[in-house]
Amino acid sequence: MFSKTLFEISRYSHIALTLRRKTLNEIDVIHSPSFAKASEGILLRAMNMPDPAKRVTRSRMIKGSEIREPDYPIEAILLDRWSPRAMSGEEISEEELMRLFEAARWAPSSFNAQQWRALYARRGTEHWQTFFDLLVDANKAWAKNAAVLVVFISRKFFEHHNEPSVTRSYDAGAAWENFALQGFHQGLVVHGMEGFDYERARKELRIPDEFQVEAMAAVGKPGPKEVLPEKLQARESPNDRRKLSESVFEGPFHPGK
Ligand SMILES: Cc1cc2nc3c(=O)[nH]c(=O)nc-3n(C[C@H](O)[C@H](O)[C@H](O)COP(=O)(O)O)c2cc1C
Repeated sequence: MFSKTLFEISRYSHIALTLRRKTLNEIDVIHSPSFAKASEGILLRAMNMPDPAKRVTRSRMIKGSEIREPDYPIEAILLDRWSPRAMSGEEISEEELMRLFEAARWAPSSFNAQQWRALYARRGTEHWQTFFDLLVDANKAWAKNAAVLVVFISRKFFEHHNEPSVTRSYDAGAAWENFALQGFHQGLVVHGMEGFDYERARKELRIPDEFQVEAMAAVGKPGPKEVLPEKLQARESPNDRRKLSESVFEGPFHPGK
């Protein structure tokens, strides 16, 4: 069954390639580069293959599971999500962005209090520069190609009785992870950042004292890794994790664990 499927795939790709080669040869005979290009586009679309010209801007984001190996089997998206830095500089629509926040909205939280809030700036708007200037230089070097910068904050006290919200950061973290997973699912780069000036963020974004500044995130369309400084190009790949047995223990904590 499997070898039959493989055979079918190779047979059809062979036919497709032959057809493509044949048609391109015929087009060459016409000696009209613009006609040849247009015809090739039509042919590739008919064969459901991406136009090479468009492939330049549409960079493929590799999936974590192409490199990562879990200790135990898990859902693919958990392995696949990672934090690339290479982005194209293209804008993303409000609708596309709101889907990430919508995912964050459904994260669990203590008392369902949803203490997290998010402030954001989209590229090309009046707020972009204020958010961008919060970043340390090392993050500016790649986040300059993001479409959106987000600052996650959390409310320090519960609204209903004004007692401290002990798990506010934990809950904001859950919201952030939903945000990141949804973004990855939509084919976007989503990269968390703590490399920014927290005090400046409070001041510039007029964040009141009753909120804690948690972290920032850059969101954008994937770009080719060549847009990154050389040092970052070398690190542009899904990373690994410590062994599960180094983080999880049955029973109480004791030294040496
Ligand atoms: C809260 C938070 C802060 C981070 N801060 C930065 C940062 O300032 N700069 C950076 O390049 N990456 C930053 N990262 C990305 C982490 O280095 C990355 O998530 C980690 O190495 C795991 O890799 P992965 O996300 O590709 O799985 C941050 C991630 C998180 C969740």
